[in-house]
Amino acid sequence: MTAERKVFWSVPDIGADEKRAVLETLETGWLGMGPKTKQFEKDLSAYTGAKHSVVVNNGTSALLTALMTLGVAPGDEILIPTYTFVATASSAIALGAVPVLVDCDPATFNVGAREIESALARHPRAKGIIFVDVAGLPADIDAIRAVAERHHLWLLEDAAEAFAGVYKTTKIGNYDHITIFSFHIAKQVTTVEGGAIQTNRDDLVERLRLVRSHGEGKEKYVHVELGLNFRPTDIQSAIGIAQLKKADHYIDLRNRIARLYVEKLGDHLTFQAVPPYATRPTWMILMVLAKDKGERDRLNAHLNAHGVDTRIPWPPIHRQPYFTARFPPAACPVADATFDRALSLPIGNALTMDDAGYVIDTVRAFYGASR
Ligand SMILES: Cc1ncc(COP(=O)(O)O)c(C=O)c1O
Repeated sequence: MTAERKVFWSVPDIGADEKRAVLETLETGWLGMGPKTKQFEKDLSAYTGAKHSVVVNNGTSALLTALMTLGVAPGDEILIPTYTFVATASSAIALGAVPVLVDCDPATFNVGAREIESALARHPRAKGIIFVDVAGLPADIDAIRAVAERHHLWLLEDAAEAFAGVYKTTKIGNYDHITIFSFHIAKQVTTVEGGAIQTNRDDLVERLRLVRSHGEGKEKYVHVELGLNFRPTDIQSAIGIAQLKKADHYIDLRNRIARLYVEKLGDHLTFQAVPPYATRPTWMILMVLAKDKGERDRLNAHLNAHGVDTRIPWPPIHRQPYFTARFPPAACPVADATFDRALSLPIGNALTMDDAGYVIDTVRAFYGASR
């Protein structure tokens, strides 16, 4: 069947400002990490209020830089949500950590204090907690921080999908704990590939910068820490500076699209619940749940046949082949049920309201036809 129209799952908004920024940077002759990256870091701190920003070459590098800075060592048990993109777990596993997978809440798909406490009761030797703002929905940061403090554990927020999100009255990133972001092409702010780390803690920032660049101290070729090359280029940072100016516009647009989907499709599909503390979700991904796996699969096929691009996010970590081959099975029934029913609909910085209307009509036609 040939679709009459095509709506992509996510389209970035790269315009004249980004093109000019790239050309200008190329003409300066300084292409590697340099003045544009410094400026981007200043702008990111001004945007979220975080004292320190460290820009890196992607979100996975941001996770690795953060985990190496926190001193993660082989054998360390780390609490990690199972319902997330693979990098949350693979970055820790790459450093030899043992993932303790935590099931998610059925309404928000995030882990909360309850799920973390229950995992800690079974794994009292855990050293730290990674939590995720799934799809850009802020997790309950205060409650999770309280658990971490009570158990004397380090905390790392994987906000790869949540740049520009607001928890209560605080922008994500403006905390003492380390927060990481991704600026991959489908994200709310993109540098094509890119990422950043933020924290308000002075004692962490020097180490973060060392780990980003081979642990090289003040003297050239003298390496005072174990580090790798996680540096961005100034071309990426120049794009980021231009994109950041439009961050609020992108988040407003994504929230408008999300509200329209909820309003028009809420009778048929279940949306991620937005608790009052999640003041501003970023909707990097727009997830819905169908009644069951069969209905989800039929809806997915119908949408694809009519030119609507979708994704099924993500097999939980405890169901990934790499994980099942190496680690003991984990019982995470909520994540299993969520994965079986979930589908993500198109959303993005360049999605038009007309495109969103077509997605809505196509979903409604499916339910009309199947009733
Ligand atoms: C939750 C989460 N963590 C980490 C990453 C990794 O970021 P990147 O793709 O920039 O390496 C992603 C990427 O989409 C993500 O969604």
